[in-house]
Amino acid sequence: MAMVGRDTITDPKAADGTRTLLYSVRLTQETHVYANLPCSPYANLPFHPHAHPEPDLYAHNSPSQHLSWCPKSTLLGSAGTDLSSAQRWTVAGTTPALTSLARIVFYSTVRLCGTKSGCGEGGCGACTVMVSRYDRRRDEVRHYSIVACLAPVAAVHGMAVTTVEGIGSTQTRLHAVQERIARAHGSQCGFCTPGIVMSMYTLLRNHPKPSMEQLDEYFTGNLCRCTGYRPILEGYRGFTTDGSAGGGCGRKDCCKLRTQGCQEGTTSNEASNGTSNGDVSDGSRVTDISHVLYDAEDFQPYDSSQELIFPPELKTRDEWDSQYLEFKGDRVSYLRPVSLAQLLDLKAEHPEAQVVAGNTEVGIDVKFKNKSYPVLLNPAIIPEVTAVKVTQTGVTFGSSVTLSDIEETLREQVNTKPEYRTRVFSAILEMLRWFGGKQIRNVATLGGNIMTSSPISDLNPLLAAAGARLTVQSKAKGEREVAMDQSFFTAYRQNAIRPEEVLMAVHIPYTEQNEYFLGYKQARRRDDDIAIVNAGMRVAFRPDSIAVEQLRLAFGGMAPTTVMAPATMEELEGRCWDSSLLEAGTSLLLQDLPLSASAPGGMVEYRRALAISFFFKFYLSVRGRLSEQFPSLVDPLTEAEQKATKVHRYIPPKGTQLFQSVPPGQPSLDPIGRPITHASAFKHATGEAVYVDDMPHFEDELQAAPVVSSRAHARILSIDEEAALSMEGVEGFFCWKDLPEERNRIGPITADEELFASKKVTCVGQLIGLVVAKDRATAQRAAKAVRIQYEDIKPCIITIQDAIKEQSWWTPLTIKKGDIEEGFRSSQHILEGEMHVGGQEHFYLETHSHLAVPKGEDGGMEVFSSTQNPSGTQRHVAEALGVPSNLVTCRVKRLGGGFGGKETRVNMLSVPIAIAAASLKRPVRISLDREEDMLMTGGRHPFLGRWKIGFTDKGIFKSIQMDLYSNGGCSLDLTGAVTGYAMLNHDSVYRCENRKVTGYPCKTNLPSNTAFRAFGSPQAIIITEYMVSRVAEFLNMDPDEVRLKNMYVTGDETHYKQTLEKCTVRRCWDEVLSQADYPARREMAKKFNSSNKYTKRGIVALPLKFGIGFTELFLNQAGALVLVYTDGSVLLSHGGTEMGQGLHTKMIQVASRALKIPVTRIYVDETSTDKVPNASSTAASLSSDLYGMAVLNACNTIMQRLEPYMAANPKGGWDGWVKAAYFDRVSLSATGFYKTPGISGYNFEKNEGRPFNYYCFGAAVTEVEVDCLTGDHSVLRTDIVMDVGDSLNPAIDIGQVEGAFMQGLGLYTLEELRYSPEGVLLTRGPGTYKIPGFQDIPREFNVSLLRGAPNPRAVFSSKAVGEPPLLLATSVFYAIKQAVASARADQGFDPVFRLDSPATAERIRMACQDSLTQKVEPAVLDNERPWSVTV
Ligand SMILES: Cc1cc2nc3c(=O)[nH]c(=O)nc-3n(C[C@H](O)[C@H](O)[C@H](O)COP(=O)(O)OP(=O)(O)OC[C@H]3O[C@@H](n4cnc5c(N)ncnc54)[C@H](O)[C@@H]3O)c2cc1C
Ligand code: FES
Ligand code: FES
Repeated sequence: MAMVGRDTITDPKAADGTRTLLYSVRLTQETHVYANLPCSPYANLPFHPHAHPEPDLYAHNSPSQHLSWCPKSTLLGSAGTDLSSAQRWTVAGTTPALTSLARIVFYSTVRLCGTKSGCGEGGCGACTVMVSRYDRRRDEVRHYSIVACLAPVAAVHGMAVTTVEGIGSTQTRLHAVQERIARAHGSQCGFCTPGIVMSMYTLLRNHPKPSMEQLDEYFTGNLCRCTGYRPILEGYRGFTTDGSAGGGCGRKDCCKLRTQGCQEGTTSNEASNGTSNGDVSDGSRVTDISHVLYDAEDFQPYDSSQELIFPPELKTRDEWDSQYLEFKGDRVSYLRPVSLAQLLDLKAEHPEAQVVAGNTEVGIDVKFKNKSYPVLLNPAIIPEVTAVKVTQTGVTFGSSVTLSDIEETLREQVNTKPEYRTRVFSAILEMLRWFGGKQIRNVATLGGNIMTSSPISDLNPLLAAAGARLTVQSKAKGEREVAMDQSFFTAYRQNAIRPEEVLMAVHIPYTEQNEYFLGYKQARRRDDDIAIVNAGMRVAFRPDSIAVEQLRLAFGGMAPTTVMAPATMEELEGRCWDSSLLEAGTSLLLQDLPLSASAPGGMVEYRRALAISFFFKFYLSVRGRLSEQFPSLVDPLTEAEQKATKVHRYIPPKGTQLFQSVPPGQPSLDPIGRPITHASAFKHATGEAVYVDDMPHFEDELQAAPVVSSRAHARILSIDEEAALSMEGVEGFFCWKDLPEERNRIGPITADEELFASKKVTCVGQLIGLVVAKDRATAQRAAKAVRIQYEDIKPCIITIQDAIKEQSWWTPLTIKKGDIEEGFRSSQHILEGEMHVGGQEHFYLETHSHLAVPKGEDGGMEVFSSTQNPSGTQRHVAEALGVPSNLVTCRVKRLGGGFGGKETRVNMLSVPIAIAAASLKRPVRISLDREEDMLMTGGRHPFLGRWKIGFTDKGIFKSIQMDLYSNGGCSLDLTGAVTGYAMLNHDSVYRCENRKVTGYPCKTNLPSNTAFRAFGSPQAIIITEYMVSRVAEFLNMDPDEVRLKNMYVTGDETHYKQTLEKCTVRRCWDEVLSQADYPARREMAKKFNSSNKYTKRGIVALPLKFGIGFTELFLNQAGALVLVYTDGSVLLSHGGTEMGQGLHTKMIQVASRALKIPVTRIYVDETSTDKVPNASSTAASLSSDLYGMAVLNACNTIMQRLEPYMAANPKGGWDGWVKAAYFDRVSLSATGFYKTPGISGYNFEKNEGRPFNYYCFGAAVTEVEVDCLTGDHSVLRTDIVMDVGDSLNPAIDIGQVEGAFMQGLGLYTLEELRYSPEGVLLTRGPGTYKIPGFQDIPREFNVSLLRGAPNPRAVFSSKAVGEPPLLLATSVFYAIKQAVASARADQGFDPVFRLDSPATAERIRMACQDSLTQKVEPAVLDNERPWSVTV
């Protein structure tokens, strides 16, 4: 592996062409890694590799071209030209052995930037690569997907590593997995795409014809924040045995397609907006339906025999996988012994040494917990610890057998042995299904899990309950057996194995006929999440009896260690398996498993309720089995009980996507309304797409790391950077002293923040300083060495409740319409209520990244940034540097997701690095770690809503009063605007003559919260829907009736006095009810609920209205620049940034229609402030509307100039006209400008103005199933009808609908930010903060774009789409609430109850009150500090 570094020399022996670079210092051992890759596509390329959006990628290549592997042929100079080779890397010497493979791949000279880093902790899958090794025992090559961020480079010694670049490229030939994800629209921002491609690729290498379930299993470790997953699965469906690929449900006779398009609302457009998509030349309008978002027939066939071969050298020569390895670094020595004797010798020599197997625990300890292990011993090639032995009594696994291999063995056992023998194995298999992601299971070991002794280990409770026996060995004392019983775990992360001992093997016993065994796990998210509580339960019965002979109950998550329940186990022995045992068992368990109210992890009552709920499930399952054996003694399970014992089963996802076809008369070249592939999709899929951190490094570039506050509200007494500055490689430390006070201030609306905190800090995570060093690792290490002394300041306001108590807010805003007091007086009923809605982390896969490059003249600066607001970044950098804006250029190629999080908060980093770069006169780059990003950059505002509603007997709303409190954090940022937007949109679709809404932007000591997709509206409307459902409950009316009675229609006026035009909400509503077969399914859900006590269903329909427009009038403007070159190619620039939403693609489509040339002739390079000045943020879903019109105007100017040449030579064609104009000295560049007509902004004080250009409408129906005993839920089906006007690109728009819906689903059900009472964010990565995964998508997901609804107020009659559909996920929340209400009613509790958002498993279970929850005493804090608080 080629490495670059200051102490690197070239291996003199490498004359054969292999690029071998060795570290010169203390060279002890080389690691050989083979990478099936060409070499960096960027190695010799400038920053922006040009390619047309949809090049003809593989027409000229035969599949065999990239087959052969040749270790000696690739040189770095041949970038992108030679795919027919693999490259041998040699890493040697003091490269720390624990350096992650991801770092090597990314930062070495080859810079394989396709492999992305989204978290660095194994939780997102962006860094997935395939590792292949030759298994000499089985004589076969084994392929594994692994996360490169946790793979120490030394661990892949002698293996072949395939990165995304190695399997295909746009410059030669795409691999089928790359092509299909791109063509099926499975890539938006593209940051997750290479990792997903590599998971799929590995699956195909292992199973050329996989099932959908296998596909799902391989994706358990991959996250995507943009797409909503459906298109990824759809694109890959064609590889599977379960279904062919294609849009829609895949059936040509899909029932949905039989519906005729609607003719309603087909008025002509305003001419200025271009022609409507449905309009054809004869003026008629056709609205046929299509479901084909891509044509699967176009996919190149997949031929598994054509794959890259495994490097023969690795197969024929066994030295690399049999030799002793020793890497000695400054801080860590990494040794790979070859025999057990050698391992034990080393362990005796270094008793402090850690055995490191999969490194999924050690890696996290080193990276996040600052632990250092001076000696690491890798046992990977020692036969005794890697062997699997099937014996008479069970299976013995070597401690270093990976979980994937264990799965394979256990499955074989389960398939071949009698069912009763393998009950423990079945439970382990079930548990492994939910253990980490596939990439983790491929490397993590059983020994690692046991030895970590985590209190929430998934396997330890099972092993303890099963009575597993461990073999341990040391040099001094030899071998001994250790039982995994209640004395095994001695303290938090400690066990009975002595430091000098090595865990050799684990024996897992078979079960007997009279023995039952089950495992349970409940996590926040079902897939790839650590447990909240888990359990292993085993019972053995006396012969021919239902009396318990032995009971073993082990739990995780109930104490600092895995614990058993000794009193319960003992007391219940000898008792019959009947309801009295259940009753006694649950009470005893609560005594056995006490939890203090302040226990780490929180959720104390829930955890206790879960423990006894698991026992209840176990009781039922065993009773079910006993009833078959002893029908006269034991009652069979009722239908409801049977359902309660069922484990979650995989249901393959399905769905349809319906949209309006382009009319038959539309020219084939005209792309408007067609599902054109995202312009960068192929580059995303091959890893060629360049993000800020991928940009080649400048020769003298430096890396920065932030120094942030660890206190929420404190005076800074001193900042001591001496230790940091004395570290080798550190070039500088910057803080408030480095710039004049007035330039240290920043803020998008009010400059109320300091760039670098000077005298006091106002939140944890606030920037205090910046360390700049030769590389990122050094900068980060040095940042930790900066010492800050604080003195806490009171009060410290963390929660909204604190803010209310202290009246801590910026100026409250009120909107009033009518007379609310009179409205209440004339109401027959009045209700009041309150609801809290939690915040949300943006979790864009690409963290904040910036590069500031001094121009070298006149104090100029070029900033490459992941910003949604290049002009804002330019302005702030210029102000901080004290130079005019014309000396600063901000350039944005693309963002790996933004969602509002990179609109204003980006400047808190882009500006400081520009200051450092200007001072040092060297380029400075920063790319935050996920943890830093989550800590520093804020998110969606938590809201508290207090409402009062007056209404009539018939459910007509007469008066509404709502107070909305938003937790804005420590600076204003956009909090006023977010709160205002929530106030404007809080009416949802409901009319009310008298309304008063007040917004309190609360000032707290949290990091500043900021813009997030839909900008306060999701919080407001979920509160409104709560109010609406309360009215229905109170009147005992169908909530849908209440909704319909109050639903806006065209001509209604909102509380801010804007009249609704072309209100399509009722159409969306009617269509979605029909599409979802809602009335019938509602009845079915009721029927289901009537016979199911422990599992409940809810089905809810909800409508949506969302205003489109910046409420600040001046922001509603846009610019574009069109440059036509003499070869006819067009370079298009506009002010919007591409962050996955397909803006550039849509703009290319607009230009293509206007210029009447194919999309392939038009290229969008980047967004840059030196091309289009003064652009507004890419935000508020507005960019297609604004920039589309600006692009159209610029193109129209060009066309006007070309008109004479077209008239003179009608057959000249585009190229001819362009040339003729050029030779005639006509300008071929044009700017376009647009300002939205007919809007006037909005004045809150006067309640005047027209804030919105128009509205988006939609409706959704969602059905869920809730496990009332655990709080788990599944979304069974969602149907959406969304009005996007005449879609510019149905593939992109449907992608936005699905992606936004899934982000909303996360907001309302899964994602929970936890803060300590001191304001420290506790959830700082994918390990603790759960965004939806592949498994969380509705099992059936049908999306229709409303047909025949052109919008005269935006380009080509389209509508905005980015944000509004997120609100439709309220249907998931209220479907869950409905299911819970049914459970409560069954159990005799009030079905009317408060449920705050998100509806987490904890909240669901605790709301499903029953006799079990009644047994759990309320957790009383007694002056203790709670683990977390609701902010
Ligand atoms: C993203 C992610 C998801 C995860 N999900 C889960 C999950 O769902 N459930 C769960 O339970 N865990 C989970 N984990 C934790 C971790 O993966 C498991 O504990 C795993 O089994 C550890 O195995 P390893 O081989 O990677 O251990 P390592 O990190 O290599 O070692 C862990 C510890 O075990 C010791 N050790 C290993 N082998 C031996 C031996 N033979 N003798 C003596 N000591 C030894 C090491 O010295 C070290 O202290 C997750 C981790 C990550 C990063
Ligand atoms: S970066 Fe490796 S899993 Fe996220
Ligand atoms: S496309 Fe998956 S994270 Fe953006």
